[in-house]
Amino acid sequence: MAKVEASINESTKILYCESVSNPLLEVADIIALGKLAKKYDLALVVDNTFSPLQISPAQLGADVVIHSLTKFINGTSDTVGGVICGSNEFVDSLRNVNDGASMLLGPVMDSLRSASVLKNLRTLHIRMKKHSDNALYLAKRFEEDGYKVMYPGLPSHPQHELYNSIHNPEYGYGGLLTLDAGSLEKADDLMELMQESNLGYLAVSLGFYKTLFNAPGTATSSEIPEDEQKQMGLTAGLIRFSIGLDNHIERTYKEMKRCMEKINIKKVTPVKI
Ligand SMILES: Cc1ncc(COP(=O)(O)O)c(C=O)c1O
Repeated sequence: MAKVEASINESTKILYCESVSNPLLEVADIIALGKLAKKYDLALVVDNTFSPLQISPAQLGADVVIHSLTKFINGTSDTVGGVICGSNEFVDSLRNVNDGASMLLGPVMDSLRSASVLKNLRTLHIRMKKHSDNALYLAKRFEEDGYKVMYPGLPSHPQHELYNSIHNPEYGYGGLLTLDAGSLEKADDLMELMQESNLGYLAVSLGFYKTLFNAPGTATSSEIPEDEQKQMGLTAGLIRFSIGLDNHIERTYKEMKRCMEKINIKKVTPVKI
């Protein structure tokens, strides 16, 4: 927090963060950021795409909350959209006929698509619980097996306690987890094998009923220069999983483990016998 505070200067207008970051799954201290924003009269803007329902930034001090609808909220990977939530006054200013950004730049969703997203939103609570249960199950098992896994629901996650202090427990820890395959080559081999084994799709999106995976270093976060990726801990072999709604997660686990063993994914901790 001291680093954030030190970087505020006279041109700063907003503080911006993701509740759970893409792709490293770092958890933001929204309450502390909200206090900092108030102290300097800034707006706190939070992207809550990875944790709809798990985290409620508006109740923790965020002034504006944004979501990609493309992901969990729509949940069917058949549309692209986004939403900006804020005070009536702020939203009205966005759609002001004379100078509102939404009005002038035209990002208005058509009514049929809006109704379709709204219909899918009705099942978000059930879907999020299942995504979270499945992801927690896999994260625990992979960690027990000795693989390098990152998931906010694991006590080994650096911000596990922080997450516990801000989340809505009934929705768990979300559907995203990462696994470090050791190298890009191994990550690619594993993802191809998992796709061939019908475990999910190699795709850059998230929040679908089927598990999706990609290696962010060369895909969704490839715009970050390589040296910066290293600095932030984004390794070439890191795979981001968006865990699906599989009904038999133990069966999925066994099949994923078979793939990992076949590709000889490196283990980082001694396996408990
Ligand atoms: C955290 C986060 N916010 C926003 C977006 C943008 O979403 P969209 O694909 O709807 O433009 C993404 C896309 O991956 C994301 O991961």
